Amino acid sequence: MGSIFVWSILVSITPYLLSIISLFVFIEQVTYLKKKKASPGPILVLPFLGNVIQLIRNPTKFWQDQAKTATDSNCGFSANYIIGKFIVFIQNSELSHKVFANVRPDAFHLICHPFGKKLFGEHNLIYLSGQEHKDLRARIAPNFTAKALSTYASLQQSMILQHFKKWERLAIQNDNKPFRLRFLCRDMNLDTSLTVFVGPYLNKKSRNAFDKQYDMFNVGLMAFPVDLPCFAFHKARRAVTRLVEILSDCAKESKTAVQSGRPPVCLIDFWMQELLKEIQESGSGSNEVPHSSDTEIGGYLFDFLYAAQDASTSSLVWAVTLLEQNPEILSKVRQEVSQIWSPKSDKLITAENLREMKYTEAVAREVMRYRTPATLVPHIAGEDFQLTDSYTIPKGTIVFPSVFESSFQGFTEPEQFDPDRFSENRLEDEEHKRNFLVFGAGPHQCIGQRYAVNHLMLFIAMFTTLFDFERFRTDGCDEIVYVPTICPKDDCLVNISLR
Ligand code: HEM
Ligand SMILES: *[C@@H]1O[C@H](CO)[C@@H](O)[C@H](O)[C@H]1NC(C)=O
Ligand SMILES: *[C@@H]1O[C@H](CO)[C@@H](O)[C@H](O)[C@H]1NC(C)=O
Repeated sequence: MGSIFVWSILVSITPYLLSIISLFVFIEQVTYLKKKKASPGPILVLPFLGNVIQLIRNPTKFWQDQAKTATDSNCGFSANYIIGKFIVFIQNSELSHKVFANVRPDAFHLICHPFGKKLFGEHNLIYLSGQEHKDLRARIAPNFTAKALSTYASLQQSMILQHFKKWERLAIQNDNKPFRLRFLCRDMNLDTSLTVFVGPYLNKKSRNAFDKQYDMFNVGLMAFPVDLPCFAFHKARRAVTRLVEILSDCAKESKTAVQSGRPPVCLIDFWMQELLKEIQESGSGSNEVPHSSDTEIGGYLFDFLYAAQDASTSSLVWAVTLLEQNPEILSKVRQEVSQIWSPKSDKLITAENLREMKYTEAVAREVMRYRTPATLVPHIAGEDFQLTDSYTIPKGTIVFPSVFESSFQGFTEPEQFDPDRFSENRLEDEEHKRNFLVFGAGPHQCIGQRYAVNHLMLFIAMFTTLFDFERFRTDGCDEIVYVPTICPKDDCLVNISLR
C-alpha cells in the first residue's frame, strides 16, 4: 500500500521536478552565454560540470584546444566552463600583460591554482596586493641580492652533489637500469629548498612528517576539488595546515636564534633579522609590525616552497631531456663548464663563475622558454575588467594567462630548441622580452627567478660533467603532461653512469 502511495506521489511530482531541473540548466546556460558573449568557446556546456572531465582526463589536450580556439578566432583568448566557474584562457602575450599589470584589489588577484584560495587559505603572499604586498616583498627581496645568492649557491651545490652520490649508488645497485628522473629531482629540490630556506630548524622527525604531508598536498593539486573527508583535495587542504605549522615552528626557532646573536645561516634567519630590527625600530612589539607572527611567516614560507619546488623540478627534468636529444649542445655545455669547474678540485662554482658561463645560461633560459614549467598563471577577476575593445571579463571569472603560449610568439623559429637565440649577437631575450613570461610580470613577478636560473645552471653544469646519461625511449615519452607543472610523459626515464 505504502509503496504505491509513494509511487503515485513521485509520478505526480516528477513533471515539476523535471521542469525545475530544466529551468536551472536553462538559467545556467543563459548565464554562461551572457558571460561569454561573442568570445570563442563552446556554445553549450554540461550542467554544473562544464568541461571538467576533459580537463582532468587530459589537461595537455584541454589547454591545447583552448589555445587553438583562441588562435583560430584571432581574438587571442577563449572562454569555457569548469564546475560552475566561467573561465577565460589567454593566448596572446599582450593580453596576458594586461592581466599581469592589473593585479590589484579592484582587478585581478593571483591565485596560482583554480581552487588556490581554498587550498592555501586566504592570507598568503600571493593574495596580498598594493602597499601591503610591496612592503612584504621589500622585506624578503634583500635575500635574493647577488650577495645572498652566492651564499645560497654553495648550499645548493652541496645538496646537489650529495644527491648525485645517491643517484650513482642507485644506478650501481640497480645494474644501471633506467630510473624516473623526476622523482629524484623532486627529492633533491625539496632537500635543497628546505636547506636554503630553513636550514637547521627542521630536524629529522619534522622532516619525515614534512615529506609525507607534502606528497599529500601534491596529489590534491591535481584532484577533483571536493572538500569532503576522504577526498584527495580535502587531504591536501589539511596537509597545508600541517605544513604551515611545521614551518611556523621553524620561524619561531629562527627568531630565538637570531635574537640570541647567532649569525644567520639560512634565508629565514636573514629575514627574521630584518624583521626583528624593524620591530625594535618601531619600538612597538611584534603585533604592530604587519605579517610578523610565526603563523603568518610559516604561511609565506609555504608559498615560497610551493613556488620554488615543482617549477624548478620541471625545469631540471626538461633540461636533461633536451640535452640528451641535442648532443652538440650538450658537448658545448661540457666544454664551457670544464674551463670553470672540475669535480676533482674541491672548489665549488661561485656566483661570479655562473655569470661567466654564458652558454650554459643560454641553455638554461632556452629550456625555460621552450618548456615553461608553470604554463598557466591563474588569476581571478575581482571586478569586471575590459580586456579588449569588445570584451569585458565579468567579475568572478578565472583567467588563465598562458605563459607557455607566449614563449612561442615573436621568437625566431620558436618551435626550435635553440639556445643560441640568447647569445650576445642575437639577443632575442632583449628583442622579445615581452614574450618571455616564464616568471610572470608586474607586481607579483617571481621573487626567486635569479635563484631558479642559478639552480638550473648549477644542476646542468654538475650533472653533465659528472654523468653520462641515456634516455630509455618509449612511445610518446617526450609528450607534455601536467603534474601540474609540465614534464615529459615518462617522467624522464634515464640511466646514468659516471663519466
Ligand atoms: C623554474 C623555476 C620557477 C618558475 C618557472 C617560477 C615561476 C613563477 C611565476 C610564473 C610566478 C607568478 C608571477 C606573476 O604572477 O606575475 C611566480 C611567483 C613566485 N615565485 Fe616563482 N618560479 C620559479 C622558481 C621559484 C623559486 C626557486 C622561488 C623561491 C626561492 C620562487 C618564489 C616565488 C614567489 C614567492 C612567488 C610569488 C610572488 C608574489 O606573489 O609576490 N619561485 N613564480
Ligand atoms: C638577506 O638580507 C639581509 C638584509 O638586507 C642581509 O643582511 C643579508 O646579507 C641577506 N642574506 C644573505 C644570505 O646575504
Ligand atoms: C644505459 O643502458 C644501456 C643498456 O643496458 C647501456 O648500453 C648504456 O651504456 C647505458 N648508458 C649509460 C649512460 O649508462
